[in-house]
Amino acid sequence: MEHRARAAIEAQLERGTYAGLVSAVVEPAVELAERLIELAPIRESAKVWFGHSGSDANEALARLVRRATGRPHILTFVGAYHGATDGSAALSGHSAQARYADSGTATKAPFPNAYRPSLAADPERDEAACLAAVEELLTTTCPAAETAAILVEPIQSDGGILAPSPAFLQGLEAICRREGILLAIDEVKVGMGRTGDWLGHQAAGVTPDLVVLGKALGGGLPLSAVVGPAAILDVEPAIALFTTAGNALSCAAGLASIEAIEADGMRDNARAVGDRLVAGLRGLTGRHPLVGDVRGRGLVLGVELVADRAAKTPAGHETAKVCFRAAELGLAVFYVGMESNVLEITPPLCLRAAEADEGVAILDRALDDVEQGRVADDALADYAGW
Ligand SMILES: Cc1ncc(COP(=O)(O)O)c(C=O)c1O
Repeated sequence: MEHRARAAIEAQLERGTYAGLVSAVVEPAVELAERLIELAPIRESAKVWFGHSGSDANEALARLVRRATGRPHILTFVGAYHGATDGSAALSGHSAQARYADSGTATKAPFPNAYRPSLAADPERDEAACLAAVEELLTTTCPAAETAAILVEPIQSDGGILAPSPAFLQGLEAICRREGILLAIDEVKVGMGRTGDWLGHQAAGVTPDLVVLGKALGGGLPLSAVVGPAAILDVEPAIALFTTAGNALSCAAGLASIEAIEADGMRDNARAVGDRLVAGLRGLTGRHPLVGDVRGRGLVLGVELVADRAAKTPAGHETAKVCFRAAELGLAVFYVGMESNVLEITPPLCLRAAEADEGVAILDRALDDVEQGRVADDALADYAGW
């Protein structure tokens, strides 16, 4: 993957990098837009907006859908992370951003959680309860007729790797169609093959109005995109315009990444190695009281750590220690979740089975070291998460 992106970047350097989409037709940008329209089908004939990060893409999306529909409200979800700029943080519903985000007309609905139900006593009924809560918001504080879009992550990632069943996205799609609301899906983290499909929502069989892409899209260079109907993306000239967006280098790297994902069978690999990882991680449950839940799909996996399995007490401090110890032992994992107690496992899509097994073995050791008190509290003093 890396050598393909590198070769593409070097070749593009030779061809030129100086003209941006503002002043010229940038061939790799046009080619990439055509590829994205193929791999992210939406309801209407599509165009592509380019940006640099998931944050600017979500912020642009919010501005575009509000201007195009004349409706001020957008419905998003508690626990969502849509970015760090003011506009994208306003769309987010994550506790880590609560100290600075001003949500304005972005209303947050509860997101289903099969391990720690958001609303229902019975986890099996939580998705239906969350859909009912969306319906209620659309008749009260976020009136349907004033709502431009529902923006949702197919797997809520920073919220704690929460992967609802297909029925949840299907339910949102049905509400959107009935109310004439746009369905916008934030694929920044889980898109581009990570779930085993090109996009995380494809497993639910829904067809969105807009798709947001970022992170892996640029093969390591800054690049994001919104795939959406021309009527929305062209609603006004210069409404979300950045000088270097869609630059030739980022787009050449993006094209090379798509080629690599395809040619090297990385979507199938994500599915197969992901299944192997889930089995390995579930195998840790018996040995480690800290492990409360293992979930996710493809190579978007979460391991929720708890201090007490029956009470499901979030073990945030221990989770940070496990990340620290795993890093010392050679494994990069992150922690996410509203209580910072979920290990996020989102490795490269080219991960091999043997590497996955090695990663599980390292986690096994890191969990053991934390459970046995071998990682001192002050080991974390120089590190900060959210
Ligand atoms: C789902 C989702 N949307 C948007 C973003 C923001 O992307 P960026 O950090 O590239 O601005 C992130 C980043 O973690 C994300 O996970």
